[in-house]
Amino acid sequence: MDERAMDKNLHIKTAGVREWVHQLAHYNRYEATPYDGMDYLFDQHAVLKSGSFIDFGCGKGRVPFYVHSLFSVDTIGIEMSSVLFQDAMNNLLDYRQAFPKKKGMISFECMLAERFVIPSDAATFYFFNPFSVEVFRSVIRNIVSSLESSPRDAEVILYYPTTAYKLFLQSHPLFEKIAEIPITHLQIHDNNELFLVYAYKQP
Ligand SMILES: C[S@@+](CC[C@H](N)C(=O)[O-])C[C@H]1O[C@@H](n2cnc3c(N)ncnc32)[C@H](O)[C@@H]1O
Repeated sequence: MDERAMDKNLHIKTAGVREWVHQLAHYNRYEATPYDGMDYLFDQHAVLKSGSFIDFGCGKGRVPFYVHSLFSVDTIGIEMSSVLFQDAMNNLLDYRQAFPKKKGMISFECMLAERFVIPSDAATFYFFNPFSVEVFRSVIRNIVSSLESSPRDAEVILYYPTTAYKLFLQSHPLFEKIAEIPITHLQIHDNNELFLVYAYKQP
């Protein structure tokens, strides 16, 4: 099923790419995770049901809506662009109208991911190449502080990971790679077309 048909099923509009007018050094453009990639990932790996799911750099919100529709967990999308955030909020109105009884909250925050205070129940942290590794490091630092002050199970999921993200998590003493899920059946396949899942190792 193509992405517009999948959007229609969820009563949202998330297709397309949005470039910055001026290329920013640390912050990447909007492009959504492909639905068939997520179908494949969540077929093999369910999200933790013990806490909320956060998409850092959520754009129009495709991932939070999809995860909510599949698992009924609370989902949060963080987005720095006010235009994309507004699209996500419009999607939220339409989604909620279409699925009023579905359990679990969905919320969006318009802010820089590195400034977001991690809720003490957050369990899954999702990244599809939103920003530079410098910003990623600072977000992971915030996640670890939250996990240290409120110990719990947690996972980081990377889609289409850069080498810099992979090297950083590989050498991080508190994360262990537990799944590598290549999506070789996608039409345009390259070696980065995969999900990596890292579990937090409680010290
Ligand atoms: C490649 S898109 C991923 C969209 C979405 N996560 C998905 O997988 O469908 C990256 C998004 O991150 C946002 N972004 C970039 N830097 C950010 C930051 N520092 N804080 C919050 N959002 C950011 C961009 O505006 C863009 O919407």
